[in-house]
Amino acid sequence: MLQISILVVHGPNLNLLGIREPQTYGSTTLAQINQNLHQESQRLQVSLSCLQSNHEGDLVDAIHQAQGKHQGIVINAGAYTHTSVAIRDALAGVDIPTVEVHLSNIYRREEFRHHSYIAPIAIGQISGFGANSYLLGLQALVNYLQSQGD
Ligand code: DQA
Repeated sequence: MLQISILVVHGPNLNLLGIREPQTYGSTTLAQINQNLHQESQRLQVSLSCLQSNHEGDLVDAIHQAQGKHQGIVINAGAYTHTSVAIRDALAGVDIPTVEVHLSNIYRREEFRHHSYIAPIAIGQISGFGANSYLLGLQALVNYLQSQGD
């Protein structure tokens, strides 16, 4: 059986994790999050690639390039969650099962963060568990993909 491959996409400002508003986003760096994800992917026996960009078009390109390469996407689109029809359309266009994750609980924050363009085209959303949101998102996605394969 071919190994499942997952793409993790981090959007704008997430490269600053660790120093950025630690009261909201915690003190775990992006490198640590990626390392934890790689460890978890080994336990789940899936392959995993991570990328981060501050540029909307680069994120759209990365999603397009996932076609034929990755079977699932975990995405934290950062602020683009609340603004980007282009990222939503890219995810809908490639039709790769996607889990949306956020470190903070976006529904407990400012009203402009309550709307996600991605949520309606995602399998589901995990929001509010800090760095753990990514691990929970990965587990949920792999579980979903494996149950589709049955
Ligand atoms: C975030 C929430 C967004 O509202 C914010 O713009 C981010 C991070 C989160 O992970 O909690 O950049 O996606």
